[in-house]
Amino acid sequence: MSMLIVRNVAEMRAQIAQWRRAGDNIAVVPTMGALHEGHLSLVRVARGRARRVIVTLFVNPSQFNNAEDLAKYPRDEEADVTRLDAEHVDLLYAPSVEEIYPEGFATKVSVSRLSEGLCGAHRPGHFDGVSTVVTKLLLQTQADTAFFGEKDYQQLSVIRRLARDLDIPVEIVGVPTVREADGLAMSSRNVRLSETARKQAPAMAEALRATGAAIEAGQSVAIATEAAKAELLNVGYSEVEYLELRDAETLEPLSKLDRPARLLAAGWLDGVRLIDNIAVLPTR
Ligand code: PAF
Repeated sequence: MSMLIVRNVAEMRAQIAQWRRAGDNIAVVPTMGALHEGHLSLVRVARGRARRVIVTLFVNPSQFNNAEDLAKYPRDEEADVTRLDAEHVDLLYAPSVEEIYPEGFATKVSVSRLSEGLCGAHRPGHFDGVSTVVTKLLLQTQADTAFFGEKDYQQLSVIRRLARDLDIPVEIVGVPTVREADGLAMSSRNVRLSETARKQAPAMAEALRATGAAIEAGQSVAIATEAAKAELLNVGYSEVEYLELRDAETLEPLSKLDRPARLLAAGWLDGVRLIDNIAVLPTR
């Protein structure tokens, strides 16, 4: 195995300094582990963009608003290491909770507006937790480029904003969602679905696709999104937290398709929270 595994920031910085002296550029792919093809696609895009690729693996307690969700979050570091080594990742940074949040830690990064609706409305404190840890990871790695999946579109928007607002010298790159053959967006949480729920789950991707197409064809946003929510409940989702059309950049709610937009959804199936989103574009 040639991938380095480091667990503290001092050791990682020493390695990065060596690469910098050699003139290497550096990419980082932040993850919470339980890696699937979606993560590996981020790694591959990063690999194509930088001489050195760092993957971070940290299940960040401060972004879980629900203790049970944190406890149940899948973890398999050994399998993750094997996958990342096969992708020729240079360094895996897998810090402990104490390394990221040492005794006395008291700082929070909070991005207003973008963090407030959608998932932010249903997961209080979630984006503050994400923003704080991602800021730390960007500063700790001092990477030139950082890669995040479009599946977590609101997260991607929040991270772009914080990097800009805090003048962190990093390019944030969004990478398209990787889907299973039946359309289900890949997620570490999918493994928690029962066999029956796994068959029902792709209904969210299908509802987004059909609704996006209907809106692009001129159907009323309110009618199309209400119909999609009803359809998800009909196929077995126990709750639809939201299914909404938003401005692709500001995430402000849109009642008509007059600019590039994103259709985003979150819902519960079989006790598992699933999210997905697609681009919706005005045709003229
Ligand atoms: O998307 C994730 O896996 C996490 O939210 C991230 C960006 C690694 C921060 O903990």
